Amino acid sequence: MNQPAPLPDRRSWAEPWKVKVVEPVRLTTREQRDAAIREAGWNTFLLRSDDVYIDLLTDSGTSAMSDSQWAGMMLGDEAYAGSRNFYHLWDAVREYYGYQYIVPTHQGRGAEHILSRILIKPGDVIPGNMYFTTTRLHQELAGGTFVDVIIPEAHDPASEHPFKGNVDLEGLARVIAEHGPERIPYVCLHATVNMAGGQPVSLENARAVRELTAKHGIRVFMDATRAVENAYFIQQREPGQQGRPVAAILKEFCSLTDGCTMSGKKDPLVNIGGWLAMNDETLYEEASNLVVVFEGLHTYGGMAGRDMEAMARGIVESVQDDHIRARIGQVEYLGHKLIGWGIPVVKPIGGHAVYLDARAIYDHLPQDQFPAQMLAAQLYLDSGVRAMERGIVSAGRDPATGDHRYPRLELVRLTIPRRVYTQAHMDVVAESVAAVYSQRANTPGLRMVHEPKYLRFFQARFEPL
Ligand code: F0G
Repeated sequence: MNQPAPLPDRRSWAEPWKVKVVEPVRLTTREQRDAAIREAGWNTFLLRSDDVYIDLLTDSGTSAMSDSQWAGMMLGDEAYAGSRNFYHLWDAVREYYGYQYIVPTHQGRGAEHILSRILIKPGDVIPGNMYFTTTRLHQELAGGTFVDVIIPEAHDPASEHPFKGNVDLEGLARVIAEHGPERIPYVCLHATVNMAGGQPVSLENARAVRELTAKHGIRVFMDATRAVENAYFIQQREPGQQGRPVAAILKEFCSLTDGCTMSGKKDPLVNIGGWLAMNDETLYEEASNLVVVFEGLHTYGGMAGRDMEAMARGIVESVQDDHIRARIGQVEYLGHKLIGWGIPVVKPIGGHAVYLDARAIYDHLPQDQFPAQMLAAQLYLDSGVRAMERGIVSAGRDPATGDHRYPRLELVRLTIPRRVYTQAHMDVVAESVAAVYSQRANTPGLRMVHEPKYLRFFQARFEPL
């Protein structure tokens, strides 16, 4: 007779919510997926979401809103000017992020556009802890050049450094010495660092960046898109921070910067929206004037009143410790499962996604045969799980030479939307990754047959070799 299993010696935890509404998803056959990926030019961005089973393309705008947020949608004040929801949003940003002024935008890149136009002059240099696609493009369109000053560990998927998002302080000092502070309008501090695998920046590092830049009169602007997730990692990993509320850590982190750009579609738990924030009143005046040209009046910036209300409420929910623990806990659950099976992923597991190391998985493919692009396509073919390339396609071309940029990281991102999928979904994803991994040997590469000028990863098309 079978012996009963031993009683558990640890206690499980679960999400601090239950499901009220469900959205059906469609299971497809291998033949249907085969046709769909061909039609999409082997680019998961070009798939129709109706053909996707579990959608891990992005955590951007894909969160499930709470009943309180949906109730807030009914309280939208759609006045053209001075909507009460704008003031709720402003109050929430002041209370939880601590910045004095906010300029609403339709999403994060709207804020990046305004900030870049205001602060960057042609010939300027913007140091940052690794590039992000839209951020760097707006810096370049304003005439600036991005310079990467992230620590070297960030470029090594196997390094288990607890704060792989940190700025390399000596590198930053060298960039300042080389170009002079007058050519550096601000340092761009991403927290967490998306392209490095959702890796955090420590409070200690942010303080040191503050100290160094203050000496030279250089501003620090944060990309606060996932700063709550960053604050959670500080709480978990940084000496002396355990037991502090995530909200308190977030506010201290923000206090080390002069302002931020924000994609509300991530941490703040909404489907659309963003903002630019700052403490300098003159800068605010310039930004609130320019936003009228590109986004909308300075009290809505491209958002409906109801969307601003949902974001104000989402901000409050996003900084609760039990929310953020469950959110990142789910990402870690998937990541540790894959690590347990020996599948190469970026370590440590990041805040919003698990990143597969496509360079290690398809070690027979040269980078200009787009291994990560192919890995994302294979995963879709296997199970209908949609992921995203974050490698050579995303890196684009060097504007000066026109050549591909060859990033050291060639990754596929399994991005987990907030409050959307269950642990069972994560198991299905993990098993599909394992299946694709076991068939890695003979997988061919791709060639690019259509290449758009800007942010090519969104719309490029490929064919198998
Ligand atoms: N900054 C970071 C770190 C981001 O991840 C994003 C968007 C943006 C800025 C731009 O914000 O999309 O609201 O205009 N990231 C999405 C992603 C697209 O899938 O990682 P946006």
